[in-house]
Amino acid sequence: MQIVNILLIVSFCSAILADNSCIFEHPTKGIINLSSIGLRNGQPRFRDLSSPSSSYYMYSFNPCYSFTENSCYNAAVCQISSDRKHSFTLGTQGVSTWTLDSDVTPVLTYTYGENTVSITMICSTVVEDEFEILGEYTVNHYSMHLRSRCACWNGCTSPQTSTSTSRTSPTTTRSIYYDACHYHDSQYGTIDLSSIGSMTGPPIFKDVESIFPNNFVWSYNPCYKFSEDSCQNVAGCQIDKTRHISYTIGLQENAYWINMNNTQNLVPAIVYPSSSSNRRLTVQLICNPSLSSHRLQVLGETSVGKYVMELTSPCACWDGCTTPIPPRVPFRWRFWMIASAVLVVVFLLFLMMITCLFCSKPKRNHPIIVFDEKTPIMKGVVNYHQ
Ligand SMILES: *[C@@H]1O[C@H](CO)[C@@H](O)[C@H](O)[C@H]1NC(C)=O
Ligand SMILES: *[C@@H]1O[C@H](CO)[C@@H](O)[C@H](O)[C@H]1NC(C)=O
Repeated sequence: MQIVNILLIVSFCSAILADNSCIFEHPTKGIINLSSIGLRNGQPRFRDLSSPSSSYYMYSFNPCYSFTENSCYNAAVCQISSDRKHSFTLGTQGVSTWTLDSDVTPVLTYTYGENTVSITMICSTVVEDEFEILGEYTVNHYSMHLRSRCACWNGCTSPQTSTSTSRTSPTTTRSIYYDACHYHDSQYGTIDLSSIGSMTGPPIFKDVESIFPNNFVWSYNPCYKFSEDSCQNVAGCQIDKTRHISYTIGLQENAYWINMNNTQNLVPAIVYPSSSSNRRLTVQLICNPSLSSHRLQVLGETSVGKYVMELTSPCACWDGCTTPIPPRVPFRWRFWMIASAVLVVVFLLFLMMITCLFCSKPKRNHPIIVFDEKTPIMKGVVNYHQ
């Protein structure tokens, strides 16, 4: 009876917590805690972002705490027209539910009047949090993504756990880790861009024109930071052809990888968000093992703040640029081992030859030759001196 009571209390508590927009407690998966990423000053943490497909409306979101913007009062999610004349509250912190979608990914849903906003938690190891607007997929139903460490199970339960850049997938043996240079998946191998990027000085791809030429050129360097005009320590830069204006479009330290699952029709890419602005560089990776060099094509600004490039390279293939390095070491070892073995054999043969020469020589007594003063040679010498 007591156990039943305890179970009832536990399920009652979790039901209450499940309706808290800050925290989601799942009995087996763990806790999602958004408290640390929401602003508490009445401002939205993510402000005026728009979807790539339609930029007419902008959206703001603050996890956990309410904010006010235009005529959205005490909102959790606000929609604002791009001329800022109209704004609509799409959700409030008071009315929310947490669910798991078919991939067992947590989804926070706000409902407000006719509106439903579903925010899918995308677990990320990137320090910079990101909010992505996918758009209004059916009338009054909005879909968005929150990409954050706090969107991971137990990602932000205790104050700032780890800032490691490695992560393991929930499946038992498969391991995935990445940084701005490498993506490793135990199932497929490693993509290593470190041999492409220039480590010092100008970027390897400098002032590249878009395939639809316009007033700008773009620079990109995989793996290492570069500086050009007012872009300082960046991964990507957009420069006006008159060289008066330049913008940072991506930073190495924010890099993450998408579509790395060999799924058909999804192009793998490395994404470089820039922190200060909403600009973001996506470099699609096209594997071409037969190419001897690396090629960069710039597609340009495909939607507001979204820049797309295409890198075609053997290094964009799984293990495309990692295998040539390791075999060199065993090869050298083998060379030196063979060389020293040959030297040793030659030396031994030489020794044997020498010893054989000495032992096979019959010992004989040399006849003693006695020179006296009367021998003609000595006389000749004496004559010369006189
Ligand atoms: C959630 O995060 C906040 C801020 O980091 C922390 O104070 C709180 O204890 C956390 N709650 C849980 C249930 O982990
Ligand atoms: C790849 O697939 C695994 C399991 O199917 C999933 O957990 C992971 O998030 C996917 N990763 C990417 C980068 O799409």
